[in-house]
Amino acid sequence: MIEALKEIETRAKEEALVVRDAKAFEALKNKYLGRKGLFAFLTARISEVAPEERRAVGQEMNRVKQALEEIFSEYGKSLGASGAVYTKEIDTTMPGTYPAAGSLHPLTLVVQEVTSIFERLGFRAVDWFEAEDERHNFDALNIPTDHPARDSFDNFYLDDPVDGERNLLRSQTSTVQIRFMDWVKETKRRPPFKIIAPGKVYRPDATDATHSFMFHQIEGLYVDEDVSFAHLKGVLERFAKEFFGPETMTQFRPHFFPFTEPSAEMDVQWESRGWLEILGAGMVHPRVLRAVNIDPQRYSGFAFGMGVERMAMLKYGVKDIRQFFENDIRFLRQFA
Ligand code: DAH
Repeated sequence: MIEALKEIETRAKEEALVVRDAKAFEALKNKYLGRKGLFAFLTARISEVAPEERRAVGQEMNRVKQALEEIFSEYGKSLGASGAVYTKEIDTTMPGTYPAAGSLHPLTLVVQEVTSIFERLGFRAVDWFEAEDERHNFDALNIPTDHPARDSFDNFYLDDPVDGERNLLRSQTSTVQIRFMDWVKETKRRPPFKIIAPGKVYRPDATDATHSFMFHQIEGLYVDEDVSFAHLKGVLERFAKEFFGPETMTQFRPHFFPFTEPSAEMDVQWESRGWLEILGAGMVHPRVLRAVNIDPQRYSGFAFGMGVERMAMLKYGVKDIRQFFENDIRFLRQFA
């Protein structure tokens, strides 16, 4: 008996939830609480309950009766108030609630866009250490021991030197060229390969509107037989048009980097702005190839490196690099 009472309470709740109009509601209420309803049917059978159980059953009857009355008055109210159709529990006409969604950081957006452009051109994204040794940051990149770029004022050297070996936070992503070609050698692979390597770099510059002690670069490297400067220009021009727009013009100015020969800087011009420098590039120096056991007689390659913050500042018109790192929500929301 007690089970049967509980059962009608549960069912009444379930059925009330899906009631859609006043007529169905009345019918349902009648089914449970009417003179010939389920509850009345059960109470009429109290005489069949053993005398010693009647007290408990009677109590349960009172409780269920109250529960049913509550269910039907609740639903009656909500039906009456809304003029009818949906129940109180689920109003499918209400606007949904959304979790607060964040947005990608502008630097992430630039890294993703640049990476995907190069991926479409056949480059593979790779990621490597931020703490490096001098071989990967300098020596194998043909940067001699007395080069000013190795000065301790221009680098974050780590610890005290061990056996003359110093480690540092990398000052450029060009380290990944050496890391990757070491790996090619160790795994007995050979060119061709095309890689793109985005990541953080560190230089102890005083912070101002255009300098930060940590920033991001994207490195590229392509090595194969017969890679020429024409390939370099073709790939980088394609990239500039994809990133800044189809009308973008490019120009290459001769420059010097120890790890490329010849070397150049590429400028872009778009939307009536002047020429803006966006990256350094060049043909991989034969000494760099030799440092990683790749025969420069047989293979050649080109490399390039660009600053992510600089690209983001140009593309989005950001005037101060510090805005990228302050996490001001008003700044970040603009990139949603
Ligand atoms: N590593 C250079 C820098 O930090 C950028 C660069 C220039 C990278 C020329 C290259 C390159 O791969 O070929 O200023």
